[in-house]
Amino acid sequence: MTVTADSVEKIYEIMVEKLSKFVPKVELRYKAELTFEINQLKKEKNAVILGHNYMEPALFHTVPDFTGDSLGLAREAAKTDKDIIVFCGVRFMAETAKILSPEKTVLLPSPKGGCSLAESITAEDVRKLREQYPGVPVVTYVNTYADVKAESDVCCTSGNAVEVVESFKDQTIIFLPDEFMAKNIALETGKHIIFPTNNPANLKKSGNGLDYRMIGWNGKCEVHEQFTVEDIVNVRKQFPDVVVLAHLECKPEVINASDYSGSTSGMIRYVEETKAPRYLLLTECSMGDNIAAANPKKEMLRLCSIRCPHMNEITLEQTRDALKLNRYVIDVPEDIRNRARAAVDRMIAIG
Ligand code: 13P
Ligand code: SF4
Repeated sequence: MTVTADSVEKIYEIMVEKLSKFVPKVELRYKAELTFEINQLKKEKNAVILGHNYMEPALFHTVPDFTGDSLGLAREAAKTDKDIIVFCGVRFMAETAKILSPEKTVLLPSPKGGCSLAESITAEDVRKLREQYPGVPVVTYVNTYADVKAESDVCCTSGNAVEVVESFKDQTIIFLPDEFMAKNIALETGKHIIFPTNNPANLKKSGNGLDYRMIGWNGKCEVHEQFTVEDIVNVRKQFPDVVVLAHLECKPEVINASDYSGSTSGMIRYVEETKAPRYLLLTECSMGDNIAAANPKKEMLRLCSIRCPHMNEITLEQTRDALKLNRYVIDVPEDIRNRARAAVDRMIAIG
């Protein structure tokens, strides 16, 4: 959480104590100066900083007023009374903040902040699916852009996807765009799923009166698709007592071989509440450092070559410049915003 000491030296000392295992001390000195500057700018501009769990440790543990997963940060964005929201995350998250707080200025520190899932589907794709499966409700993962949310009935995050899908009881639904998450939820809720994009024969089927209960899309997270069952088997061989946690965007066989699956905040809570000495995190690598810094007595194993290139774009320098130069402003056209808001509000009402 925010390090608010009144001098660079004090901030540096706090950072060294918490982060020197993860960040070289020379870098920490420079980062302490940036943190001090960001804190001053934040006050001057009446801004709040929201930091996703994937931010690099020196950012995650210093400047955000709130850290969390997509759902938690969306809730904070909706509640804030500050004039400016600086979203240290990726574009779809900053858009969700704008949808929920349209009167605020929302800044994304990176000009792009992409996401392979958000880029896997367009609003036109959703309209075509609706034509193909008339009357079938569309559930959309929040890792999508605002115009796709606007075509949807309800959104969900990895933190509430099962509750949202179960709210439709045994009705058939379209679940977009994450293929693995859709399969994981289908398994958990006992729904049979088909993929019109993967199997053209499915294109001819209509949504009414058929035996399947979910229609999916073929989007994938470029980070989580890299984890394999073999990774888990190899680590378990070396450390038989390891507890394995996987994000819901991982392949179903990976989830099946893990001890826990859920959202990023769900994984953080699980580590905090479990007594085991050692954990393997199958998710973005910086989050392992962030949990390790907060739980110094527990060992976090992670496959460290795996970083989200989009989350990695956000640095303390970029965050300082966002506040200093009022950049990069996130705008969502009013018509799209209103329709997307209805889908996000329905999600928040469910859980
Ligand atoms: P969470 O909502 O679980 O934080 O996930 C966001 C994300 O992009 C995971 O890759
Ligand atoms: Fe998107 Fe995957 Fe990066 Fe999350 S980790 S922002 S899903 S590309």
